[in-house]
Amino acid sequence: SSSLLIAIDGPAAAGKGTLAKRLAVHYDLHYLDTGLLYRAVGRKAQAESLDLDDPDQMTTIARALDTSDLDEASLRGREAGELASRVAAHPGVRAALNAFQRDFARQAGGALLDGRDIGTVICPDADVKIFVTASAEVRARRRTDELNAKGRTVIYEKILEEVRQRDDRDSNRAVAPLKPADDAHLLDTSELDIESVFREACRLIDARE
Ligand code: C5P
Repeated sequence: SSSLLIAIDGPAAAGKGTLAKRLAVHYDLHYLDTGLLYRAVGRKAQAESLDLDDPDQMTTIARALDTSDLDEASLRGREAGELASRVAAHPGVRAALNAFQRDFARQAGGALLDGRDIGTVICPDADVKIFVTASAEVRARRRTDELNAKGRTVIYEKILEEVRQRDDRDSNRAVAPLKPADDAHLLDTSELDIESVFREACRLIDARE
């Protein structure tokens, strides 16, 4: 269908981004990595030396965000992810970013969004919701291997600690905490390779009611 709307959620480093990009190409959908919005707010706040724990200042930044701030290279990486997860806890920041995400989801041709609250808050009536998970250990292992392959020397234990902290912050915040929507399909990737994850997701999407 030309107006297919797919919501992909899950914790950091579960393989969401890889899956989402591939599905968007396969089903020919507009794709939005919503984490970039929060990363951009965090980076901007940092660049302006603002207090990331100040809700009013962070909300002002989020309201002023525009697509030119989503320049990808500077937003990748663990530090930006960390900043993002701090600013993402402010209700005002989330509210400011909601309209953009909802408009994106409604555009002609269909859309696929990935994040933490797409199935629960942004697109509660998505055609298919997939919650991608993997154990913290598996996610930390994958991230460690990925970074080491890029020539970074990182320690598994430290990455595991970061993964757990981010899970904790994202799951325990008062507004839009990380949790599967009631009607989301759970896709545990702990024991699956990328290809199998993709095939399983396609099966769920093709079997939609
Ligand atoms: O997915 P990504 O790692 O880019 O997300 C960075 C952070 O942004 C997450 O840890 C989370 O705190 C926040 N986020 C969110 N809601 C989304 C997407 C990301 O709260 N829809």
